[in-house]
Amino acid sequence: MIELLRGMRDIYPPETAVWEKLYFKASELFNTFNYKQILTPVLEKTELFSRSVGASSDIVNKEMYTFIDRGEDSVTLRPEGTASVMRAYLANSDYRDKFVKLWYWGPMYRYERPQKGRYRQFNQFGLEAICSQNPIVDAELIYILNKFYTELGLNNLSLEVNSVGCKECRPAYKDNLVDYFTQNNDKLCDDCKRRLLQNPLRILDCKVETCKILASKAPIITEHLCTECDTHFKLLKEYLDNLNLKYTLNPFIVRGLDYYTKTVFEFTSLELGGRQNALGGGGRYDELSLELGGKKVPSVGFAGGIERLILLLEPEIFSEKQIYLAVLDDTTLKNIFPLILKLKETFKIIDDSFKTASPKKFLEKALKNNIRFILFCGTDDFAKKQFLLKDLKLSIEHVLNFSDLNILTDKISEILGG
Ligand code: HAM
Repeated sequence: MIELLRGMRDIYPPETAVWEKLYFKASELFNTFNYKQILTPVLEKTELFSRSVGASSDIVNKEMYTFIDRGEDSVTLRPEGTASVMRAYLANSDYRDKFVKLWYWGPMYRYERPQKGRYRQFNQFGLEAICSQNPIVDAELIYILNKFYTELGLNNLSLEVNSVGCKECRPAYKDNLVDYFTQNNDKLCDDCKRRLLQNPLRILDCKVETCKILASKAPIITEHLCTECDTHFKLLKEYLDNLNLKYTLNPFIVRGLDYYTKTVFEFTSLELGGRQNALGGGGRYDELSLELGGKKVPSVGFAGGIERLILLLEPEIFSEKQIYLAVLDDTTLKNIFPLILKLKETFKIIDDSFKTASPKKFLEKALKNNIRFILFCGTDDFAKKQFLLKDLKLSIEHVLNFSDLNILTDKISEILGG
């Protein structure tokens, strides 16, 4: 039998229903904030990523799915979405010099060592605000991502923020770092020895314990920012404070991609555990357009991992609103059938092909399928023009009269919403 490739996943029902709902929720939120969806190809010229994500990044060095196509061109399955969005922005003459807000959702590819929460094909949603230098835009993006996560019931997240400076202030800081790490070269892991030559900032992000200890005493970027970056960072912090967003300043966040300037941020969750604790992150990339051959287009954005997000969601988050239909006998079923079809126009009613059974059987099935609400109806109930809506989570039974459909629908909505 042909097996699935390592690091790839089939996503079966019922998980696919969660994906559908998440997509809907994401698009609704992003559109509300006036971000518009953009679709770009999954396959791009390799140089798009080597020039933007950066030749010294792990992604370009060892994780890209790159091959020569039949036309002898080197092509790569996108490892992330920002470079493609910027390429598309630059290619569209309607966008020239305009402030444009875009969002996307789709698969990305990185040849990483697979483990829980880390796959070789994974999905991201992302937002990019293109052509603005204003730190208020950075703050709004962080606010939107935080809103998305909190509305999904994720409360134990930590938000870390940093500034990585720009091409004015970073070189002097880099020199300081190189001096510091060169003195301690023998304690660095092999990857970091390479990073020291190619991109010493990346050492600050290394997860190897000895490197982490060294990094904790290294010079700090935020003490070396030029006036412009320093002012930008101060303003960002003020905007975040005004929004009452809780964040930690972490001078060691450098992010795994080379294109960042000024703002960088990450949402992490301890519940994801280990090295895969990054749920979403992003930052400013004011110079990326220059790397792609365009003029300077200061921009900022973020992306969130969808598989990691789903790992954190409560299983009932989207399934709570389902009602399990439990009609106890065939005569009642025949009588209540028209009403059930009417209710199906508004509510998600799981009917299990309209089988009738004992209350005990229905209860067992609902519990097994993680369904919170059951609609019980037997002959006596029907004669009284009522049925029982049982809330298994709160252990409450609601007796609902169904003589007036509008009143009934309002009542059920109220119960499900609680
Ligand atoms: P990133 O931090 O590389 O940023 O990826 C964003 C998120 O994608 C991560 O926080 C994580 O949740 C998820 N992710 C990354 N790699 C994997 C993997 N192998 N398996 C599962 N999930 C993964 C970017 O990609 C930037 N383009 C973000 C950005 C947008 N910066 C500015 N605009």
